[in-house]
Amino acid sequence: MGQKYKVSVQNTDGLKSDISFNCDEDVSVLHAMIHAGQGPIWHGCCGGACGVCKARIISGDFYAFKPMSAAHVSETEKKEGMVLLCCVQPRSDMLIAQG
Ligand code: FES
Repeated sequence: MGQKYKVSVQNTDGLKSDISFNCDEDVSVLHAMIHAGQGPIWHGCCGGACGVCKARIISGDFYAFKPMSAAHVSETEKKEGMVLLCCVQPRSDMLIAQG
């Protein structure tokens, strides 16, 4: 069994919401969010191609286990913490917000 981390979703008004779920280190954040029935669940292909699951990492460490299409996340956006949630796994507790 791998490590589990807590992922919290920030409200659109910028406040930390009650929405949170656990995510194994070897599972994508998007998959864990869907499995937990938590959200705002915004997703499409689940494979890094459509860009629908774009989100901002407010805090926490992650590992990008799949390449993120530059068509959806530019290098500048990556530096600002934007990711595709279907392409990242947690490496610490995380706080995320919808992109
Ligand atoms: S769901 Fe399509 S890129 Fe993540």
